[in-house]
Amino acid sequence: MKIVKAELQKVAVEPKQYPMDKLPEIAFAGRSNVGKSSFINSMVNRNNLARTSNKPGKTRTINFYNINNNFRFVDLPGYGYAAVSKEEKVKWGQIIESYLNNRENLKEVVLLVDIRHEPTDDDLLMYNWIKSYGYRGIVIATKSDKISKGQIQKQLSIIKAKLGIEDMNNIIPYSSKNKMNKDKIWSLFRDVLEKTKDQ
Ligand code: GTP
Ligand code: MG
Repeated sequence: MKIVKAELQKVAVEPKQYPMDKLPEIAFAGRSNVGKSSFINSMVNRNNLARTSNKPGKTRTINFYNINNNFRFVDLPGYGYAAVSKEEKVKWGQIIESYLNNRENLKEVVLLVDIRHEPTDDDLLMYNWIKSYGYRGIVIATKSDKISKGQIQKQLSIIKAKLGIEDMNNIIPYSSKNKMNKDKIWSLFRDVLEKTKDQ
């Protein structure tokens, strides 16, 4: 994908703040610190478009990134971050849920999981939600540069088993450092976005 524009279009915590236009959106969900913001940056070749941090809980709002005036990437707050108050967890949960439940522009929710770890129960809930709403259920297994090539398939099997993924083509190892499988992921995203045009 040739990126001619990638910019933060809107920051929101509630529906009335979302962009009003009809651009299709692909949203990224996953645990805090899994690498959602880094993923977006690496896919659009910008180091600092989405703010990243080695401390979990960096993204606390819904950030809408306009790509090529053609579609949007939506960076969601991460879940499962232990070191915040109960109230704040509830608030983040509501921010994420009200986006996922009420967004017509939303064409696919992509789940990111850390390739080194078995997905959590929260990941499983998220994945089941994604499937039950009829999305394809693309899972990106991040930080693949942190394990050896030989370990990748083994870790993918663990993720597949926990989430109950049927189609191995829908689970893709990725690294925002070495960008393995970047082209493959763009081609999946192109499919998702093209389908929306025919509807
Ligand atoms: P929240 O905003 O807290 O939900 O986190 P996030 O999912 O947006 O994670 P973020 O992109 O901020 O990345 C968290 C940390 O993991 C940062 O220190 C990143 O540099 C690191 N990181 C992300 N992706 C990769 C990767 O593919 N490989 C390696 N080695 N580090 C990564
Ligand atoms: Mg983030």
